[in-house]
Amino acid sequence: MRLDYLTIFPDFFAPLELSLPGKAAASGLLEFGVHDLRQWTHDRHRTVDDTPYGGGAGMVMKPEPWGEALAQVVAPGSTVVFTTPSGERFDQRLAEELATREHVVFACGRYEGIDQRVIDHAREVAEVREISLGDYVLNGGEVAALAVTEAVVRLLPGFMGNAASLVEESHAEGGLLEYPVYTKPRTWDGREVPAVLLSGDHGAIARWRREQAVRRTAERRPDLLHPSTLDDGSPIVRAT
Ligand code: ADE
Repeated sequence: MRLDYLTIFPDFFAPLELSLPGKAAASGLLEFGVHDLRQWTHDRHRTVDDTPYGGGAGMVMKPEPWGEALAQVVAPGSTVVFTTPSGERFDQRLAEELATREHVVFACGRYEGIDQRVIDHAREVAEVREISLGDYVLNGGEVAALAVTEAVVRLLPGFMGNAASLVEESHAEGGLLEYPVYTKPRTWDGREVPAVLLSGDHGAIARWRREQAVRRTAERRPDLLHPSTLDDGSPIVRAT
């Protein structure tokens, strides 16, 4: 898989070298390209934004640098992801879908967004997804692009021996939040590990974990609970 990032803040992507994606790149599963959008400007000030037609607060990203950037970076078969608070909400299902793509180009908007004609044009030359990380507004799309990257890269086949752990996890349809987890020591700060986890009774442990997962989901994310979720054997959403 190849991932390209178009941004006016290329430094945001330095962590790609450090974390999961860095390991994937080192193992040859993944290639990255980070591109400063301003390299496609032609004025002395390297201008990427201008005032909005129709008035209103803030600035809009100009179409010309984006047009040149996309012409250079997008290839047949690419998927272009515009990270924007007005996109479809990112979730595990979308991460799984993006993990099947050969080439994803992240277009990271700033200010009040990118001139709509850029997105309309991109739709004519590539698959386009407009993706929001959640119902809140960030200063720009870079952090969202990093979050999407990490969620996608860890799903790549052959990455981090994921086969076993991915069977149990799922924020996919019907998932529950993960049950609480414990490790050694048995007593810490006067607090005990739940006795059932020390019992060696695998059936009882599985039942306890499931009850905890259902309780947590009901308390924190009741929107995830629907009748099929409560069928036995629903996947549990793991935190890590
Ligand atoms: N850019 C600004 N806010 C965002 C959000 N919530 N998701 C994705 N990109 C964004």
